[in-house]
Amino acid sequence: MQIGVLCSGGDAPGMNAAVLGTTDTSEAEIVFIKNGYRGIYERTFAFPNAIEIETSQAGAAIGTARFDEFRQPKTRAEIAKILHEEGFDALVVAGGNGSWEGARLLKAETGFPVIVVPATIDNDFPNTDYTLGFDSALDCISNAVDDLILTARSHHRVFLLEVMGRKSFELAESAAYANFSIPVLDESKDNLDRIAENVNKQGRSQILIVPEGLPDKQDAIEYLSEKIELETKYLNLSYLQRGAKPTTYDRLIGHRFGAEAISYLLANQDGYLGRKDGKIMLSNW
Ligand code: F6P
Repeated sequence: MQIGVLCSGGDAPGMNAAVLGTTDTSEAEIVFIKNGYRGIYERTFAFPNAIEIETSQAGAAIGTARFDEFRQPKTRAEIAKILHEEGFDALVVAGGNGSWEGARLLKAETGFPVIVVPATIDNDFPNTDYTLGFDSALDCISNAVDDLILTARSHHRVFLLEVMGRKSFELAESAAYANFSIPVLDESKDNLDRIAENVNKQGRSQILIVPEGLPDKQDAIEYLSEKIELETKYLNLSYLQRGAKPTTYDRLIGHRFGAEAISYLLANQDGYLGRKDGKIMLSNW
């Protein structure tokens, strides 16, 4: 059995462990596909021993991409054709929601077997409690909070720290909870007034965590800055979260996801992996 392995969409810490995990097997031939679904189209393949991969590295060592053309049924049909021509029997895709949707359509329209490994720092993916990269990104935010509070206190300032998550506020919510910071998860005037009032009552430096996808984010940040009596500063942690060093947890889960994906394909099962109640399980398409 020849199995293609690719990363798709935004990179997530732990993707490299998942890719390496697929090479545990001696029962299948693993071929890496560079730069996401685009790499199938462009036929950029590599054998595992041709690429140096460390689980300690963030990013996707085999490259990843957002391949917009893959939204077209015509492109998906072409991709299935290329996969057959190149001798592939199945595909492992490490990626988030968009990559999942692409894989689902590829399977539905062409019947090509695919397993998706949930990998996105946003922790929003169907049928799983955990997506690869979330723990590392969270750690990155915690480190930033640890550092920021020291400079904030020195100047008696309040920091508004923006974290990633276009549609999911999980990073913001969890980071705030873990660090006893203040989450700004709702842009309503009532909520912003309540937050400002609390900060003013306490009268000390604080870190407010704002998710990327908060509606009317800019207005909310300006409103809070006006209402808060201490001086406020804004910082966007941005891509540092995606480039965070993978935690041991992400390396461990990544390895398991990669290895399990191959075991399922060898047993002629496909779908998408998830982690529930501590166990890795497969959901069928
Ligand atoms: O999906 C993960 C994510 O990091 C989101 O949190 C963020 O909104 C998005 O990717 C940014 O993607 P891009 O790399 O296309 O700018």
